[in-house]
Amino acid sequence: MIIEPRTRGFICLTSHPKGCEQNVKNQIEYVKTKGEISGPKKVLIIGASTGFGLASRITSAFGSKAATVGVFFDKPGTKGRPGSPGWYNSAAFEKFAHEEDIYAKSINGDAFSNEIKEKTIALIKEDLGQVDLVVYSLASPVRTHPDTGERFKSVLKPIGGSFKNKTVDFHTGVVSDIEIQPGDDKDIENTVAVMGGDDWELWIDAMKKAEVLAPNATTIAYSYIGPELTEPVYRKGTIGKAKDHLEATAFTISDKLKDIGGKAYVSVNKALVTQASSAIPVIPLYISLLYKVMKEEGIHEGCIEQMYRLFNERLYTGDIALDEKGRIRVDDWEMRPDVQEKIAALWKEATTETLQDIGDLKGYETDFFNLFGFKVDGVDYDQDVNEVVEISGIV
Ligand code: NAD
Ligand code: NA
Repeated sequence: MIIEPRTRGFICLTSHPKGCEQNVKNQIEYVKTKGEISGPKKVLIIGASTGFGLASRITSAFGSKAATVGVFFDKPGTKGRPGSPGWYNSAAFEKFAHEEDIYAKSINGDAFSNEIKEKTIALIKEDLGQVDLVVYSLASPVRTHPDTGERFKSVLKPIGGSFKNKTVDFHTGVVSDIEIQPGDDKDIENTVAVMGGDDWELWIDAMKKAEVLAPNATTIAYSYIGPELTEPVYRKGTIGKAKDHLEATAFTISDKLKDIGGKAYVSVNKALVTQASSAIPVIPLYISLLYKVMKEEGIHEGCIEQMYRLFNERLYTGDIALDEKGRIRVDDWEMRPDVQEKIAALWKEATTETLQDIGDLKGYETDFFNLFGFKVDGVDYDQDVNEVVEISGIV
């Protein structure tokens, strides 16, 4: 079929297999150009199909020839109905990995469930014995607790009072004022249950018990901080409470792994366009200014640049350079004072009329469509493509 983008609000309902494949190919090429990393050898990636998780998987496989098991929650394409981008990304990743005889298998299902944890552990036992790295990169709006069956929904709200600021609709370029009502204790509890560290700890507990963690194994999860501008809706909002919890969980897990010499880390990553970040008010305006400034400075990065740098210059160098709270920082360039000062000044000037010039709306929009395999250079969108694509190593 011919597949075109169909957007509704901040989501895109379709995705393009060839565009997704090209995105994956570009990321693999980037890693190969940058060169080998003396990195991990056997890796489990939870949340492996898009964003930072996919980039971690590509960096592992093509940076240090690691065998990878990927867990994700995606929709395969069916006749006349395109699947989700993560499905096509994973199909492409496995195809390219297998072409180079790099082990890659995938499990599609709810990572929050006991069933998927058991299935993953059984696969690791059977095929790899143990893993030396576990990447935890889930981003989800909901979680069903595996034991109680309770369903939690995360929300993006300020705490303690409403938050007024401006935002942009990146489809139209219209800058407008918004006011977000605060969340209550229930909202905080829900968001922490979904995006905090509880499930990460459950994964590591189960893996340790099953003895599928290698001696000195590392596990890493991803966090975000961001500037003062977005604090009320991000770091000091409901999602920030979840990130506080995730970061605290790294210490809990490290304690639990002491006897096998293992360690848990959180890496604070840069703000990037993803399905999730497009839905948070204020953030798209911040990102469009951030992209503009970072591109001008020649320090802009996407997911793959971030993850390559994380592996090559932090995790596997011996100089992990933790901050005062014990976190790895690859948001260091985003948070540079000169970058943030420029953004703060531009923020005051941003209107529908000025943003076209002072912000990188085009870059935002391109990145957004790229997430779904659209507007990717080198892809012929007039060509018929097969929307039904198999993942060769799916278990
Ligand atoms: P993403 O949406 O691109 O990736 C999420 C992954 O999780 C996908 O592979 C998806 O299939 C999988 N997933 C979601 N629910 C699942 C479930 N129930 N079971 C199994 N798999 C499931 O997200 P991302 O932007 O790469 O975010 C990953 C992490 O990085 C998050 O913790 C996020 O907060 C953090 N982070 C994001 C940014 C940003 O700007 N995007 C910045 C810093 C940190
Ligand atoms: Na991810």
